[in-house]
Amino acid sequence: MGIKSLDDLLAEGVAGRGVLVRSDLNVPLDDAGNITDQGRIVASVPTLKALSDAGAKVVVAAHLGRPKGEPDPKFSLAPVAAALGDTLGRHVQLAGDVVGSDALARAEGLTDGDILLLENIRFDARETSKDDAERTSLANALAELVAAPDGAAGAFVSDGFGVVHRKQASVYDIAALLPRYAGTLVATEIKVLEQLTTAGERPYAVVLGGSKVSDKLAVIEKLATKADSLVIGGGMCFTFLAAQGFSVGDSLLEEGMIETCRKLLDTYGDVLHLPVDVVVAAKFSADSPPETVAARDIPDGKLGLDIGPESVKRFTALLSNAKTIFWNGPMGVFEFPAFAAGTKGVAEAIVAATAKGAFSVVGGGDSAAAVRQLGLPDDGFSHISTGGGASLEYLEGKELPGIQVLEQS
Ligand code: 3PG
Repeated sequence: MGIKSLDDLLAEGVAGRGVLVRSDLNVPLDDAGNITDQGRIVASVPTLKALSDAGAKVVVAAHLGRPKGEPDPKFSLAPVAAALGDTLGRHVQLAGDVVGSDALARAEGLTDGDILLLENIRFDARETSKDDAERTSLANALAELVAAPDGAAGAFVSDGFGVVHRKQASVYDIAALLPRYAGTLVATEIKVLEQLTTAGERPYAVVLGGSKVSDKLAVIEKLATKADSLVIGGGMCFTFLAAQGFSVGDSLLEEGMIETCRKLLDTYGDVLHLPVDVVVAAKFSADSPPETVAARDIPDGKLGLDIGPESVKRFTALLSNAKTIFWNGPMGVFEFPAFAAGTKGVAEAIVAATAKGAFSVVGGGDSAAAVRQLGLPDDGFSHISTGGGASLEYLEGKELPGIQVLEQS
C-alpha cells in the first residue's frame, strides 16, 4: 500500500494533536561545542515548520553522537535546540530528560504549534538495545508524550533519514505503535536515491573515498555492476594500490582486504579507476611538507594523504562526460589545507558536470562537510544527502528498517 506522506497527515488535520517527529540532528561539534555544519538542522526544518504551522504539538526525538546509554553533558542537544530555534525562527524548548518527568510535564504543557525537543534519545539505553521488549518500552513512553489527554493516539513522522538504517526505538519500534508517516526529508532522500539505482541517465560515474575498503566493500560490489566508472580515492585507495603489487609506504592499509581488492580489480577492472599519483608526507599532520609522487612509487617512511594533480585531471575528464554522479567520501585529508586539493578538485569537477546538466548526489557525512568546509556551493550539486551510512546501505540494496516499518499493510 506504500508509505503515507506528511501531506497525508496534514490533510487528516493535526491542529491540537501530538506528533512525534524523529529527526536526525546529529551535527558535528568542535572542541568548544560549536556546531561546525548545520546541514542536518537546515534539512530538518521543513517538516517541523509544516507541522508547527498546522498547529500540531510537536515533540522531536533526536540523537547526538554515541553516548553510552546514560546522560552525558558532552552529548547534550542544548546547542542543537538553540540552532534549530534560530533556523526555524521560533522557540524550541529542550526537555531536561528523554521521557522522564520533565519531558512529560513539558509535553503536557504544549500548546498548538509548540515544538519540544527531547534530550538526546541515546541517553536512554533502551533506544539502541538489541532486546525488542526494552526498545518497545521506550517506544511506549515516547507514544505517551504525544497521546491526547483522553488517551487518543498521536502520530509519528519519520524524518531522520540519516538513522533509517538503525533498528532503534525512536526509528523503528515507535512506528508500530502510532499512525506513521514519512516526513519530507525522508521522502525526498528516497526519491533521489531511487534515481541512482534505477533509471539514471548514462554515463553513470561513482566517486568513492574514505578510509576503509571494508566499510565500502558492499557498495563497491553493487555499484560496480551499475556504474560506467567507479573512481576510488581516499585512504582506501592504498589497499587497492597494494593489491596491484605497489608498495604503499606507511599509508593506511587494510592487509586483510588486499585479496578482496585484487578480486574486485580482476572482475571490474574496466570500471574501477585508481589514482596515478598521490600527495605524501612523513607524518599525519597539517604541517608535514607535502610531496607528489607516482602512485606506484610511494617511498618507504611516507604516507599518502591525498590524490595527486594528475589523478584529479583524469578523474575530472571522466566526470565531465557523466550524466549521473554519486559521490561519497573525501579523496584525502581535506581538513588539512595542504592535502585538500584532491577532494576540492573532484568536488569542483562534479559541480561543473552538474552545471552542464548532470544529476549529482553527494552522499552524506564527511563529503557533505567537505563541500561546505571547502567553500563549495550547496546548490552546485543536485542533492546533498543527510545520510552517510543510510544512503550507502540504500544503494547496497539493503532493507532499511526505518523505511520498511513505514509501509502500510
Ligand atoms: C549519522 O551520523 O550517520 C547518523 O546520525 C547515524 O548515526 P550513528 O551512525 O551513530 O547511528
